[in-house]
Amino acid sequence: MTLERTLVIVKPDAINRNLAGEITSRFERKGLKIVAMKMQSLQPYVLKEHYAHHKDKAFYGELIRYMSSIPCILMILQGKEAVKVVRKLVGGTQGREAEPGTIRGDYSVSNQTNLVHASDSVETANTEIKRFFSEKEICDYQKMDFDWVYSKDEKYLAKK
Ligand code: CMP
Repeated sequence: MTLERTLVIVKPDAINRNLAGEITSRFERKGLKIVAMKMQSLQPYVLKEHYAHHKDKAFYGELIRYMSSIPCILMILQGKEAVKVVRKLVGGTQGREAEPGTIRGDYSVSNQTNLVHASDSVETANTEIKRFFSEKEICDYQKMDFDWVYSKDEKYLAKK
C-alpha cells in the first residue's frame, strides 16, 4: 500500500471564523503530513470547474459566490489512505448532521458553510491536486515523526 495525497480547502467561513489553525491542527495531530500549503483567492472560473458536478443544483451560484468571497487556504495532505482518513476527520457534508468529534460536526451548523472541502476519492484527489497546485509547489521532505506515526510493517509497505 502506497502513501496517498489528498486536497483540502479551508473555506472562507473557516477563515472568517478564525478556525484555520484549529482545522489544520486536527490534520497534523492525526499524523497526516502537509506537503503543500498556500492562501489563494479562488477565481469563479476555477471554482466552476471544481464544482461542475453541482452545476444543476439550486445552491450552485451561491456556492461559487461564497467560495470566491475571500481567500481560502489550500493544502495537500499525505499519508496511508489519506483520502479516507481526511474525509472521516472532516465529517459529513451537512454541518448539522455531521458526527460530533468531526470538524464539521464540531464547528458547522450549515449545509453550505461547512468549513472544509476534502477530495472524495483517490482519482478525484489527483485531479483536484493538479487543478490547484503545480508540481514545484509540492514539497518532498523527510519528517521526523514518521518513525512514530507508522509501525515498522506500515513503513515498509509505504515505501513500495
Ligand atoms: P463540498 O464538500 O466543498 O462540496 C460541495 C459543496 O456544496 C459542499 O461542500 C457545500 O459547501 C455545498 N453544499 C452541499 N449541499 C448543499 C446544500 N444543500 N445547500 C447549500 N450548499 C450545499
